[in-house]
Amino acid sequence: MVKIAIITSKGGTGKTTTAANLGHGLALSGKRVMLIDCDPHGDLGLVFSINAEKSLSDLLRTGKTTVTQVRENLFLITSGGRALNETELSIAGRNGREFIMRNTLSDLRNVDFLICDCAPSRNLININALALADKVIIPVSMDYLAMNGARHTIELMREIKRYTKANLELMGILSTHFDTRTSLSHEIYKVLLKHFPNKVFDTVIRVNTRLREAPSYGKTVFEYAINSTGAQDYFSLTNEVLKKIS
Ligand SMILES: Nc1ncnc2c1ncn2[C@@H]1O[C@H](COP(=O)(O)OP(=O)(O)O)[C@@H](O)[C@H]1O
Ligand SMILES: [Mg+2]
Repeated sequence: MVKIAIITSKGGTGKTTTAANLGHGLALSGKRVMLIDCDPHGDLGLVFSINAEKSLSDLLRTGKTTVTQVRENLFLITSGGRALNETELSIAGRNGREFIMRNTLSDLRNVDFLICDCAPSRNLININALALADKVIIPVSMDYLAMNGARHTIELMREIKRYTKANLELMGILSTHFDTRTSLSHEIYKVLLKHFPNKVFDTVIRVNTRLREAPSYGKTVFEYAINSTGAQDYFSLTNEVLKKIS
């Protein structure tokens, strides 16, 4: 099982969009994928219109949760919304609080990919997700602040590795919100290549309205607009991820 955290400290960079569409892309290519919504906003649950009885919040508190099948080969654990914030506080004093997800989710059977959609913060839930994960994808929208978010995230990864002895590796920086018409996107892409050699995905996710619209229909981009550039880009990302782990 490959365990991926999609994380960066900046909001709105396309973490949830990537979790949903990469997850579905992998599922469509025959892999069994478990999505875990680690963000109290609960956006991933909204994308799939799921309001499960038990959530990640319950998993952290009691070790039990609800896994909902959302598509063929695709499964989801919802975040629990605000309850996840409360749970974060209630587990803060526990011994081994960083390893609850690792201890409960490491031996899932029949799952090829586990994908954590993280919140843009430095909290105990994200530390759990990073202690569990072995690969990290950092989405960077094509602006300077997002690059700063990537830097912070890589620092956080270093700390967590030292602290938890996690087997954590940057799978790639993913360029998102790429506007082919502006020079800024091209410039930032070049800066990323320079700062993170061999760690930037060849795939870029272009700005595409279909990606923005799809969740309001409860669909991934592959269901909502298969011929869109958004579907093309997430198809390309899916193949790049499959190639990287083979
Ligand atoms: N490539 C894209 N083109 C256009 N809109 C996008 C794209 N990627 C994401 N969005 C939209 O941008 C907003 C933020 O994306 P989201 O995936 O929720 O980011 P995050 O989870 O990092 O906060 C959402 O409204 C989403 O639909
Ligand atoms: Mg999100």
